[in-house]
Amino acid sequence: MEGIEKVYQFLDEVKTYYLATVDGDQPRVRPFGTSLLYNGKLYIQTGKKKDVSKQLAANPKAEICAFNGEKWIRIAGELVDDDDRGARVAMLEKMPALKGMYDPDDGNMQVFCFRNAVATFSSFTDAPETICF
Ligand SMILES: Cc1cc2nc3c(=O)[nH]c(=O)nc-3n(C[C@H](O)[C@H](O)[C@H](O)COP(=O)(O)O)c2cc1C
Repeated sequence: MEGIEKVYQFLDEVKTYYLATVDGDQPRVRPFGTSLLYNGKLYIQTGKKKDVSKQLAANPKAEICAFNGEKWIRIAGELVDDDDRGARVAMLEKMPALKGMYDPDDGNMQVFCFRNAVATFSSFTDAPETICF
């Protein structure tokens, strides 16, 4: 499995991860669950109306953390707004529950993809594994 696929699979299986953004000098963190591998890029989804979207617009630096009961992952990088309708459609196809809240053309739905990302898998037993994408 290619590195980014392993990262995606972990997020997909764990269902809930925690996304940290920067708000001035204040870190902000919240639960997220959207993930998609599309055109070789790792995407998450949100709405433009949310504070998280405004924070990423002002400063794309972000970090994700998730734990599956055995290993944890941290993904540090930049989350870049990707105005790709195909990615929005693919996200809704993968996660149909979102269709009640979002439409690809509603002007609110937004997908972000990682750039300059460093993902680290850690556990209490194994050496850390780092994947860059
Ligand atoms: C399990 C879980 C998964 C969530 N997944 C997402 C998600 O993928 N995208 C999203 O925009 N909000 C998601 N939310 C809701 C956000 O956590 C919530 O809107 C949060 O307030 C957004 O952060 P903000 O207030 O800083 O904008 C999820 C909430 C939970 C409990």
